[in-house]
Amino acid sequence: MKKTIIIGAALAVFAACGGDEKKDETTSTTTEQKAEGTTDDLSSNPIYQKAITIIANSDCRTCHLVDEKSQGPAWREVANKYAGQDTAVRYLADKIIAGGSGVWGTIPMAPHPTMSREDAETLAQYVLLLKNK
Ligand code: HEC
Repeated sequence: MKKTIIIGAALAVFAACGGDEKKDETTSTTTEQKAEGTTDDLSSNPIYQKAITIIANSDCRTCHLVDEKSQGPAWREVANKYAGQDTAVRYLADKIIAGGSGVWGTIPMAPHPTMSREDAETLAQYVLLLKNK
């Protein structure tokens, strides 16, 4: 189950980045993601790798997709909105922990009071990595 979610998350990110996929034929480390063809730049980013594990163990994906609005905003849109803002990581980590509504609509973002500050910041950094503008 956990594996499926990780692959799902990786695929969602990968699908979203379609176009600049590069096959890395030289590497012998065949991870699950690579087997699925995920060799884009993000998959080797340590923030990304940490984040997909945290996401697999949390509930984010019940409400968020990378490229499409679901219950919550598409993460890529979130990234584009806060791109270049110094306070974005702190702000988004606070929001992930505390929840809240009113920025993207009236549906509230679920709070995650038991999530560590470190994990919340990793997720915030991950979301910000998804910007494409
Ligand atoms: C119950 C559904 C739900 C879950 C679960 C959920 N979110 Fe959200 N999320 C939302 C909604 C709805 C919003 C928009 C809130 C608003 O308009 O202020 C949102 C907003 C966000 C934002 C943008 C915040 C802002 O103020 O712009 C980020 C980043 C985010 N979520 C990340 C996450 C992460 C990471 C997780 C998992 C730990 C997660 N969400 C789990 C529904 C959810």
